[in-house]
Amino acid sequence: MADDKRVVVLVSGHGSNLQALLDAAAERGSGMTVVLVGADRPGAFGLERARRAGVDTAVVRPADHPDRPSFDLALRDVVAAARPDVVCLAGFMRILGPAFVGAFSDRILNTHPSLLPAFRGAHAVRDALAYGVKVTGCTVHLVDEQVDHGPVLFQAAVPVEPGDDEDRLHGRIKQEEHRLLPLAVRLVAEGRVRVEGRRARIVAAEEVAR
Ligand code: GRF
Repeated sequence: MADDKRVVVLVSGHGSNLQALLDAAAERGSGMTVVLVGADRPGAFGLERARRAGVDTAVVRPADHPDRPSFDLALRDVVAAARPDVVCLAGFMRILGPAFVGAFSDRILNTHPSLLPAFRGAHAVRDALAYGVKVTGCTVHLVDEQVDHGPVLFQAAVPVEPGDDEDRLHGRIKQEEHRLLPLAVRLVAEGRVRVEGRRARIVAAEEVAR
């Protein structure tokens, strides 16, 4: 709908979190529309999910740019052209630089498959299993200029079960991400998240205009 909040989602892979967002946005009265899905590689299955949902797609490949800052600027321009209220990193496996983060500050969300600050980086589930933790989970957080670092919005704990391998454990973690990420996107889109230092505070809808 015309006054829906505009959501841009960036993906690198399978896109199950993107699917959760597409499904949430498709619910009647959701108040949000996914207006663009961007990827850093043309083979990302998330792009196919977007096409099936009738959502515009864009691919910005690092290899087409001479260095990280120019990739960052190119991606920023593509995303900015979609006029997002929220930018959501849903399995986007690139580090975003200051030009990108500064353009959408306090409006970029990421989901990470561990209870941050434990197990940052690209192999969080594998690293948690290797460490032998009994509980891990996911973190939905605002993005700042450091990797897997910005203010935390939501976390959910997921117990490690005997016999878990990376896929099985990650599958259960993703179930929690699919629940929390659409919720977080909606709150940021509605302006209901106030950032004070490291703390992200959720305010009541009536407080938004104040
Ligand atoms: C998620 O677990 C997310 O936390 C991590 O990458 C995974 C992406 O999964 N950053 P999918 O592509 O959404 O299925």
